[in-house]
Amino acid sequence: MKICIIGTGYVGLVAGTCFAESGNDVICVDVDEAKIEGLKQGVIPIYEPGLKELVIRNFAEGRLSFTTDLAAAVKVSLINFIAVGTPPGEDGSADLQYVLDVARVIGRNMEGFKILVDKSTVPVGTADKVRGVVREELQKRGRDIEFDVVSNPEFMKEGAAIDDFMKPDRVVIGTDNVRTGEIMKELYSPFMRKTNRLIIMDIRSAEMTKYAANAMLATKISFMNQIANLCDRMGADVSAVREGIGSDSRIGYDFLFPGVGYGGSCFPKDVKALVKTAEENDYDFMLLKAVEEVNELQKLVLTDKIIRCLGDGSTESLKGRTIAIWGLSFKPRTDDMREAPSVVIISRLLELGAKVCAHDPEAIKEARKIFGDRITYSNNQYEILKGADALAIVTEWNEYRTPDFERIKTLLKRPLIFDGRNLYEPSRIKEAGFEYLPIGRNG
Ligand code: UGA
Repeated sequence: MKICIIGTGYVGLVAGTCFAESGNDVICVDVDEAKIEGLKQGVIPIYEPGLKELVIRNFAEGRLSFTTDLAAAVKVSLINFIAVGTPPGEDGSADLQYVLDVARVIGRNMEGFKILVDKSTVPVGTADKVRGVVREELQKRGRDIEFDVVSNPEFMKEGAAIDDFMKPDRVVIGTDNVRTGEIMKELYSPFMRKTNRLIIMDIRSAEMTKYAANAMLATKISFMNQIANLCDRMGADVSAVREGIGSDSRIGYDFLFPGVGYGGSCFPKDVKALVKTAEENDYDFMLLKAVEEVNELQKLVLTDKIIRCLGDGSTESLKGRTIAIWGLSFKPRTDDMREAPSVVIISRLLELGAKVCAHDPEAIKEARKIFGDRITYSNNQYEILKGADALAIVTEWNEYRTPDFERIKTLLKRPLIFDGRNLYEPSRIKEAGFEYLPIGRNG
């Protein structure tokens, strides 16, 4: 099939590349000329495991191309995915300007039947707005060309995006047209197996599904973070509690890992947007407001532990202390620092007068944009430990899971680890001679 993907961010680039891999003719469009030129040379603007190889191969084999010329791409494509950004506005609602701009250009340039697919995360009702602006543009041209708008939310995770796209748990298609539903079904058929489902539903429900999924996952995390904080106060072990509740098939084990709060470009933005949508519809989504508040507070749980342990109670409580940080990105296998808990944690440590030195396998470049020279960085996870008062683990990269504990002990001033991701077994690490403060496992 002939496909055009507009927006070469995470979602657009991964989707476009995977559709090319499954045999379609895909044109990826972006307004950013440098990005498009780079992509033609095999320069991938984001770090995503496996993506570069797939882009280079499909480009070389002619199934994947890159352009800034949206009008030309639309003319030759049956299915047009809109995967541009929807940044949060001041009030938390999603800004649809870019989505609607793209829809206008499509309306201005289409010559035959087109399917427009909303792939970006967009509020309920966006498909109607997209339909509206396309109609407007067609009327201006005095044309009556048939088209359909589909909602096809994306559920891939950063760091596992290719795998999630190729082997999705489910594909959700929101459409009110049977023929369009069949075309979308055919497009996704290479990715469907006995174990997953393609679910066709009405457009508004598909739009709501995306927000409900992210809000539900964020709720699980905030819930478990509060259970962990309570465990800390009562001498219970949150890992045992997770095993205990996860064994109930209605609850399950996934997404119940406490930590330093959720981050990234999706959960914080989508939770805010859903609260806002509710407000606009005269409904108070109290639960989600609490989820958000709990998450903000959770980002400070690790620094509170550090202050209790190393601080002197003053406003510059940590003056003269050096804290080594392992992990800056909001989660492993990405260089993404958007809404990363590390930003709040490090800012707080600096505020309290501490020196911070940080290691991350991928995100140092991004972190420099935020902290500049206010903290020091190293590509060596042990180097930053030398002379530090404590180690604080913020992101659960694999290289932190089984480190050389003896080496850590000789490098740190005091064998003290604050673990925001519960990477180690408390009894074993205490036996190895460390003071160890994880989240919810102090029992
Ligand atoms: C999330 C969803 O998982 C995807 O399904 C969705 O497609 C995507 O948002 C999106 O809307 O585009 P992502 O933001 O890549 O994906 O990251 P996740 O792996 O879901 O992690 C989000 C945050 O939750 C991270 O900060 C992570 O550390 C935290 N988390 C996750 C926990 O604190 N505990 C857990 O048990 C799981």
